[in-house]
Amino acid sequence: MNDVAEKKQTEWKLIGNVAAIPKQGARTIRLGDVDIAIFRTVDDEIFAINDRCPHKGGPLSQGIVHGKRVTCPLHNWMIDLLDGRAIAPDVGCARTYPTNVVEGDIYIEIDH
Ligand code: FES
Repeated sequence: MNDVAEKKQTEWKLIGNVAAIPKQGARTIRLGDVDIAIFRTVDDEIFAINDRCPHKGGPLSQGIVHGKRVTCPLHNWMIDLLDGRAIAPDVGCARTYPTNVVEGDIYIEIDH
């Protein structure tokens, strides 16, 4: 196979401003048919993760943010915002997206 053909096409997409998300809160964006939750921690770190809990699809954007984790509002699974993985003993993973903040503007890396 050709290396160039295998390389994913990615794009940094501007999705809004940090100030639009409350600390320890989230807002959602829709890309195609996927809802993505954008979280802001108390330290103003930004994380992007699919807005579907790996347990039964609960809306993670409506969960409680604590540290770099969110607790799902449906059955209280904790999800690590860094890698989307459920905290043991629960098992599962939600997709995460790389984020970058430039002068308050939030970009996420998406592929095509
Ligand atoms: S759907 Fe999230 S903990 Fe059950």
